[in-house]
Amino acid sequence: MSNAAKFGKVAVLFGGKSAERAVSLDSGQAVLEALLRSGVQAEAFDPQDRSVTELVGYDRAFIVLHGRGGEDGQIQGVLEWLNLPYTGTGVQGSAIGMDKVKTKQIWQGSDLPTAPYRIVTKDTDLDAVIAELGLPVIIKPVHEGSSVGMSKVEKAEDFAAAIEKATQHDAVVMAEKWITGREFTISFLNGQPLPVIRLQPPADVAFYDYEAKYQRNDVEYGIPCGLSESEEKSLQALCLRAFQAVGAEGWGRIDAMQDEQGNFWLLEVNTVPGMTSHSLVPKAAQAVGYNFDQLCVAILEQTLATSA
Ligand SMILES: Nc1ncnc2c1ncn2[C@@H]1O[C@H](COP(=O)(O)OP(=O)(O)O)[C@@H](O)[C@H]1O
Ligand SMILES: [Mg+2]
Repeated sequence: MSNAAKFGKVAVLFGGKSAERAVSLDSGQAVLEALLRSGVQAEAFDPQDRSVTELVGYDRAFIVLHGRGGEDGQIQGVLEWLNLPYTGTGVQGSAIGMDKVKTKQIWQGSDLPTAPYRIVTKDTDLDAVIAELGLPVIIKPVHEGSSVGMSKVEKAEDFAAAIEKATQHDAVVMAEKWITGREFTISFLNGQPLPVIRLQPPADVAFYDYEAKYQRNDVEYGIPCGLSESEEKSLQALCLRAFQAVGAEGWGRIDAMQDEQGNFWLLEVNTVPGMTSHSLVPKAAQAVGYNFDQLCVAILEQTLATSA
């Protein structure tokens, strides 16, 4: 019997019904195929099509659901009740990580640097927000990922339309100070930071938006990231504190920026980041010798520690 038999029957949860369903279908299919190639008895499970009660009878779950329902503690809570070990972050850390404002509040309370922000509605005094945050700002739905519903606002007159656009995706919307500088992402495996990747969207896009993330192939990924060794270490140490502060576990990813003065600013944590073969966590893991299949097995191994 192969070593993979120790995992038993594994439900690979992907698809779901969030705005990031399409991305999850890609990530989940890649994970499923990797586990099957490694000899794991893995099966696709799409909670959009099937009742979660059908998870009874599996031995563990690999969660590749992005966004609401799958990355926010809901499915994690179901799995807790079913006594099924699952990959990644637990209920509370998932719920916090899905909420960009709660995440920031925890980071602020832990003395970790995160870009200044304000929650905004159509009734907010936008002049006061501009006086506080300056321009540009970036408008974000608080509970979405994949840059869904986001806009960069450079002129006061565009502010209201950007809020309106984000409101179509979420009841809670925030304006965040625009950080001019370089963008980095820090992946985690076994609770430890992997080498930092620099993201460089093409010059014609305002930021790393949905299209740049998934539909173009001209985003540049810097690994090594171009920071000095000591700067990279300090960014990893900062992100490790940030990861732990929100209660994230196992694997995940933190997005951060460095402003022109060299200061780092934390943007957000992803507790179920993209897992296609060209996603960022696999690129970072590759740099320390894990191919995609090995990475998927390593993430799944985390569930053995919690097995009864
Ligand atoms: N404060 C900011 N200043 C400049 N660019 C930002 C800022 N916040 C986000 N961005 C850009 O928008 C992208 C998406 O934002 P992020 O907070 O990571 O949300 P998500 O990835 O969940 O959609 C980032 O990768 C970055 O390119
Ligand atoms: Mg992000």
